[in-house]
Amino acid sequence: MKELSRTASAVKASTTLAIASMAKEMQMKGIDVVGFGTGEPDFATPENICRAAHAAIDAGKTKYTPAAGIPALRQAVADRLRADYGLDYKASQIVVASGAKHNVYIMMVTLLNPGDEVIIPAPYWLTYEEAVRMAGGVPVSVSAGEESMFKITPEQLEAAVTDRTKLFMINNPCNPTGTLYTESELRALCAVCVKHDLYIMADEIYSGLVYDGQAFTSVASLGEDVKERTILITGVSKSYAMTGWRIGYAAANEQIAQVMSNYISHSTGAPSTISQFAAVEALTGPQDTIYAMRDVFEERRNYFVDRVSRIDGVSCVKPEGAFYIMMSVREQIGRTLGGRVIRSGDDFALSLLEQEHVAVVPCAGFGAPDYVRWTYAASLDEIREGLDRLERFLKG
Ligand SMILES: Cc1ncc(COP(=O)(O)O)c(C=O)c1O
Repeated sequence: MKELSRTASAVKASTTLAIASMAKEMQMKGIDVVGFGTGEPDFATPENICRAAHAAIDAGKTKYTPAAGIPALRQAVADRLRADYGLDYKASQIVVASGAKHNVYIMMVTLLNPGDEVIIPAPYWLTYEEAVRMAGGVPVSVSAGEESMFKITPEQLEAAVTDRTKLFMINNPCNPTGTLYTESELRALCAVCVKHDLYIMADEIYSGLVYDGQAFTSVASLGEDVKERTILITGVSKSYAMTGWRIGYAAANEQIAQVMSNYISHSTGAPSTISQFAAVEALTGPQDTIYAMRDVFEERRNYFVDRVSRIDGVSCVKPEGAFYIMMSVREQIGRTLGGRVIRSGDDFALSLLEQEHVAVVPCAGFGAPDYVRWTYAASLDEIREGLDRLERFLKG
């Protein structure tokens, strides 16, 4: 048999999904696993949104739609971006895809030619590197550690730029760190991008989940020269508890939006019609349920961080947004836990799952090998139980 595509064969499976499937297998065997793996809200999708989906089915809205989404949804996205962040986009600049993840990939194939470099601040969401490679690009990571709250500086960005750099990616608030860049920090990074004529991918899917009353600044609001080169990626999955509906959307200049739409027309065709009608309701209906969910996440974050600060041998920075905790397991390196020598976050996560049946995600794939990621998109009872088990595990 002839060789498969080298690009496709090099793609690594998502570690997040791998841990989740190991945990599911254990659960199916009757093992009581506490899961902190996948990043999805544990809340049900709000009722008004579900009703809109039923209404769409009842009204026979079950046919193909235009590739970049139904006009009502593209308009609803534009209106919401204006209401929430003061952004001025026309409906024609909005591209709806089958999840924000799909739009990340579509954007890559729209922008990149073979060998183009993409700068990604590390730790990063693990899909970014793979998506860059899948589109023939070269990921270049720039690391920021705990001491800078996992934020890179404009000097670091500048130093990573070469004549092959095409795109800078920023995820704010960040998965996995929960880091939130301020307006002035973003301005300084964007100035480097303008200076070197780079595109900017701003993944703002967690923008609705920012805590302590802090302000969120959308990159595209930082001036026309920034907006023109920015591809804003967001969607309903996280803020509206709609992960399974698979609706994400991008906002970009007309040319980029058109090429992305053409690409979608020959790949998925269009996102699910029923989900699109549900997303219209999410964006135009009452928003109070999402504020209520955010408040619950904030309460869980506070509990989580407080407990971790009292556990010897692990640590975390207080996240300002999203729903993840990056836990440093550096002090555990070299110990034997659950019969396994811990050499990295991978060993730690595997041993914790086998020994105490707690599923967390090792962060090597996120560019941070000495860390594991927990999500607090889990109930307070689960968080309490998971941390009790962690304490027991660390006793060795
Ligand atoms: C940073 C980031 N961007 C995008 C996504 C994808 O979201 P969606 O469910 O809309 O594909 C995720 C999901 O985990 C994420 O963490």
